[in-house]
Amino acid sequence: MSDALRVENIGKRFGGVEALADVTLRLGKGEVLGLIGDNGAGKSTLIKIISGFQRPDTGRILIDGTEVSLRSVDHARSLGVDTVYQDLALVNELSVYHNMFLNRELVRWPLLSNRAMRRRAAEHLADMGVRIPSVDVEVAKLSGGQRQAIAVARSVYSDARILLLDEPLAAMGAKEGTMILDLVRDLKERGEVSIIIIAHNYAQVLDVCDRVNLLQHGRIAFDKPTSETSLQELTDLVVADYRRSRGL
Ligand SMILES: Nc1ncnc2c1ncn2[C@@H]1O[C@H](COP(=O)(O)OP(=O)(O)OP(=O)(O)O)[C@@H](O)[C@H]1O
Ligand SMILES: [Mg+2]
Repeated sequence: MSDALRVENIGKRFGGVEALADVTLRLGKGEVLGLIGDNGAGKSTLIKIISGFQRPDTGRILIDGTEVSLRSVDHARSLGVDTVYQDLALVNELSVYHNMFLNRELVRWPLLSNRAMRRRAAEHLADMGVRIPSVDVEVAKLSGGQRQAIAVARSVYSDARILLLDEPLAAMGAKEGTMILDLVRDLKERGEVSIIIIAHNYAQVLDVCDRVNLLQHGRIAFDKPTSETSLQELTDLVVADYRRSRGL
């Protein structure tokens, strides 16, 4: 069976900065992969490339074993790749329910009325335990954590086959973070979607992911099933690299 996603030998520079040198990574069908690495390691850049938002300088991307050349985020989405970005999640000026349907269900069901969208958005958020004052409220008036929850809920609702979550837990309180992790677990049990999740909290990564990859110096420096590694090993790897870089 082919992997849901493969990226091979991806490189990306921004002027003098080599964000990604040579990244090769695979994501199995129904798998949850944790992607970890220091600030500035290139994790978000990799996600933006897989989601069609940025073009790689080198390398190739295969979805279900077929090489693809991603032209845009919409193109990637049409191939089943959906993303929650760290820094551009929602449109602030629109209501919650408009955001839920933005570029998505409206396309599939062009005749869906505003009233139906509101009802569906409210039902869906309630199903997932996302609590907000009302789906009519402008996203700008929500807290960072609520915004993040809606961005994740929107992707979960989108029938994506590959879901990319860039630090979905970063702005979350303990309760909301647990809710997102439960969502990921539910999705995993359904087995229909393959997920890459970026997080800095290694305990959460070990808790929810099947496998973990460490991005370091523009490459995947470590790749193990979570059952074969530990919090201690992951922490040691990062600390050892820091010490090396300081010549300690
Ligand atoms: N659009 C851009 N223009 C110029 N440099 C960029 C751009 N995007 C990213 N970079 C640089 O590429 C490197 C990788 O950034 P990236 O955002 O991918 O890191 P990250 O691993 O997601 O970090 P964090 O954990 O802090 O979110 C950084 O040095 C960053 O400054
Ligand atoms: Mg990032």
